[in-house]
Amino acid sequence: MTRSLLKQLKSPTIFAIFVLLVTSMSNECVLAVEPNTIDPQTIQQGRALFEREWQSRNPNLGNDGLGPLHNAKSCAACHHQGGLGGSGDARFNAKSIGIEKMQISGGPINDNVIATSIRGFHPGFVDSMGTVVNTLAISHHGGTPVYRSYRDSLMKNVTAEFSEAGGPTNAAEVRRANANPIVYTAKSGNYDISIRARMFQRNTTPLFGSGLIDQVTNKELKALAKQQEKHPEISGRPATLPDGSLGRFGWRGNVSSLLDFCDQACAAEVGLETERKPQPEDPTLPAYKNPDKDISDDQIKTMAAFVAALPAPIRKLPEDSEARQAARHGEQLFASIGCAICHVPNVGDAQGLYSDLLLHDMGYESIDLNPADPYIYKVLALTKVERSVISSLETTTIYEDAVSSTYYGRTSVMSGTSKVTNVTGRGLESVDFSPVTRGESNIRCSPFSYSFDFPQQPNTIRRFIPTGSRTTRKVENENSRARVKNEAGTGIRTASGNDFYYTDTTKARKDVFLTRQTNYLRIHIEPTNYMQEWRTPPLWGVKDSAPYMHDGRADTLLEAVSMHDGESAGTRDRFLNLSHSDRSAIIKFMETLVAP
Ligand code: HEC
Ligand code: HEC
Repeated sequence: MTRSLLKQLKSPTIFAIFVLLVTSMSNECVLAVEPNTIDPQTIQQGRALFEREWQSRNPNLGNDGLGPLHNAKSCAACHHQGGLGGSGDARFNAKSIGIEKMQISGGPINDNVIATSIRGFHPGFVDSMGTVVNTLAISHHGGTPVYRSYRDSLMKNVTAEFSEAGGPTNAAEVRRANANPIVYTAKSGNYDISIRARMFQRNTTPLFGSGLIDQVTNKELKALAKQQEKHPEISGRPATLPDGSLGRFGWRGNVSSLLDFCDQACAAEVGLETERKPQPEDPTLPAYKNPDKDISDDQIKTMAAFVAALPAPIRKLPEDSEARQAARHGEQLFASIGCAICHVPNVGDAQGLYSDLLLHDMGYESIDLNPADPYIYKVLALTKVERSVISSLETTTIYEDAVSSTYYGRTSVMSGTSKVTNVTGRGLESVDFSPVTRGESNIRCSPFSYSFDFPQQPNTIRRFIPTGSRTTRKVENENSRARVKNEAGTGIRTASGNDFYYTDTTKARKDVFLTRQTNYLRIHIEPTNYMQEWRTPPLWGVKDSAPYMHDGRADTLLEAVSMHDGESAGTRDRFLNLSHSDRSAIIKFMETLVAP
């Protein structure tokens, strides 16, 4: 339990509200232990799991270990720079492919044609339900010979050089990969198919001090975002996750707790099936099933305890007094030109963090098709609403139809099966394309041609369904919304088209539209550029975590700063306009932030 919550508990009225909220807020305190109180034996066992080289197929254990696909055999294989648990260089970058543009023409188009066309490019874009998605993780190792041949042909398209470990050999190769789209054209029967895709990468982050980041409270995150509202250039926001919690971890900030991240990393990176996350499937081996889980929840907790106990990075001033002076001067400049607005020096107990852990739009060059958790929503009561109802909704995120979510970001549906039926049995329209698009302007779908275009400016989302909510709720579609307005007479007219109506059906009744008007809530969704938003990376330990930026595109600290854009363009320009010695002073200051 977080301290801020404990403090609040002293008031009896707040206690009553707390009881109502406690289930929805429990995800704020996943590791119940403070990092420095974890017992040494647990840390030792966790370390062994973190370093353990998992094997493929161990029939004695009844599971498949590394499974059909994995990026590495152990956590330590990637997280080792500057000590165990550190970052990794570009060779260990996780890779995914995202479709930017797809055109099909030559005959009648339906979901089946779209799915068949895209399967020829890579079968992994179509899941077992026939749903077509727009991004796909490409595992470094494993897979059937057919899977490997798909991987090889994709990599041949990207003219960068790749290492034995699976990622590009260095930052220059990352930039080369970014610059080269993967182009696929094919003819299938009468159909002409053309696809333009791109490879996206994620660089391994260091884990030092993660236990302290895990303890940062929602309140602290919200306060940081609030502070920035006043700033003309900068508008960070916390990532809001499907279960209503706020993100703290990952380049997209879309994982709330350290335990969750470790759980997902077991599956996504090491191919270990956990109790909550399936291991990545080889799409060329669809019938394959892992006979059993590869790692238990208790083992993951032990592993997370080890990660939580990793010491925080430290500050190491140079011996030489002139250099020391320069670093101090650099630190002042870092604050005065605005770097510290995002790279906040201290957040809660994370002293010396240099991050606000918020998402910032970093400009078009930083696009990655695995989006951040996507929008800002505001919940407004239309009429008097019971306190408990508002509270639980405020902590429950309404979610759009994403088919899956990993910590790289979420997958968008391009076509397919996603039909939602609400509780009264009224079917909502089916989803026919990625939520990144505004619809008509980006998807053109006539009976005889289909074109999916990744837009320059990702736009608003159309429709939401709640997931993981504890009470039954439903979202009204356009028609039933009109009905709500007419029959209950309480609707507010929406000018922007971004407003959605939400009806609480906790005490489910058939005539819910007519009688539950006191529970109508208006949900306003503000679109954000969630393809371009990144969590401010903590700068603690930054000297020892090259290469930099989410995909490791920058070799040096100077390059990293020069690559800032979007919300940080003003700050970057102030940096670039400094004298040479002032710029070096800022770099020298950052070089005092070292791994523990
Ligand atoms: C193939 C390399 C690789 C392996 C193996 C790997 N990781 Fe990672 N790790 C990454 C990458 C890349 C990221 C950043 C991912 C992102 O944010 O998109 C990351 C991020 C993390 C983070 C989030 C840190 C932060 O501050 O955001 C945690 C925690 C983590 N890894 C734990 C683990 C654990 C535990 C294991 C072993 C089960 C593991 N990792 C295995 C590459 C790897
Ligand atoms: C608007 C918020 C914002 C401001 C202002 C800002 N940064 Fe950043 N910084 C970020 C984000 C977000 C990233 C990650 C971008 C990415 O991964 O593509 C980043 C990345 C970095 C990195 C790379 C860290 C790593 O681990 O890869 C360094 C170094 C850095 N910033 C230094 C600075 C300096 C110095 C300044 C001032 C000149 C500054 N930043 C201003 C948000 C900001």
